[in-house]
Amino acid sequence: MKVTIIGAGNVGSTCADAIAYKRIASEVVLLDIRENFAEGKALDMTQTSSLLGFNTKIVGSTNDYSKTAGSDVVVITSGIPRKPGMTREELIGVNAGIVKTVTENVLAHSPEAVIVIVSNPMDTMTYLTLKESGLPKNRIIGMGGALDSARFRTYLSLALDKPANDIHGMVIGGHGDTTMIPLTRLSSYNGIPVSNLLDNDTLNKVAADTMVGGKTLTGMLGTSAWYAPGAAVAFLVDSILNDQKRIIPCSVFLEGEYGQEDICIGVPVVVGKNGWENIVDVDLNDAEKILFEKSAAAVRNMNDALNNI
Ligand code: NAI
Ligand code: 2OP
Repeated sequence: MKVTIIGAGNVGSTCADAIAYKRIASEVVLLDIRENFAEGKALDMTQTSSLLGFNTKIVGSTNDYSKTAGSDVVVITSGIPRKPGMTREELIGVNAGIVKTVTENVLAHSPEAVIVIVSNPMDTMTYLTLKESGLPKNRIIGMGGALDSARFRTYLSLALDKPANDIHGMVIGGHGDTTMIPLTRLSSYNGIPVSNLLDNDTLNKVAADTMVGGKTLTGMLGTSAWYAPGAAVAFLVDSILNDQKRIIPCSVFLEGEYGQEDICIGVPVVVGKNGWENIVDVDLNDAEKILFEKSAAAVRNMNDALNNI
């Protein structure tokens, strides 16, 4: 089982590392445009294999897509962050150009691959990839909800003082600090609704902290986070490659589900070897439906920028 990761930067290399040491794939290819950068990361990671006990082959490549041939999954993390003075359209223009070219190159060598989009603005980049590639919708997955849900579970775990692994909670909607929707009503600690255990003020704070989870870390680190994003990608790739059929909120193309169409946005999906296999309807209440509609409107507004580039 072979995974290619485009972009050997913070998120791409962390994800490759997690995939290797958790033995999720037998081969990981890291590709970057920076000369020798991916090769260096691959060599460094390979030197951890006898210490961490894995045999995953890790290959680095400077823009040589022939090394990615036959990948089962391709993860796209290449892109630039928004710089001071840059408009939203300019950012989308640069990243759209990168994502489009990269997708063409990877599909030329791995025509059957499932594509996971990480580059921001992720919901818009996922939509663009679907439209440009012409691939079946199930093979295009945007990663955002896996990360946002992990952050939600972390903040719930801190508020409850219980292990995050015993806590279930999902975040749906767009991957943005005003568009994501932590589903507090449906969250539980070992089956006990969290609303039985935490007061409303605390629950509202947990949801608010989750929504600015990425922004908080960017403020602390001076760039966007990578450990949890990399681990979230690895978690998703594991469910695809090992056909685990986990329910993971992902940005996928909607055709009427959740009352929306012609948009990629985060909803819970079953993830297995064919990509996302079906959308799970969690039966939102009226307030949650309104939030979802607002989130979809904001994502559509972002997608509109694609028309101006
Ligand atoms: P980074 O700057 O550390 O890495 C990006 C890498 O992409 C760089 O090494 C760069 O050389 C490479 N690259 C640029 N153009 C390329 C091309 N045409 N072909 C191959 N490689 C190319 O950035 P980082 O922190 O790894 O973030 C990557 C992207 O992921 C950003 O757009 C960021 O906003 C996004 N992100 C998304 C998350 C999500 O949940 N969806 C979470 C965290 C980050
Ligand atoms: C994150 O959520 C910025 O998408 C990035 O950390």
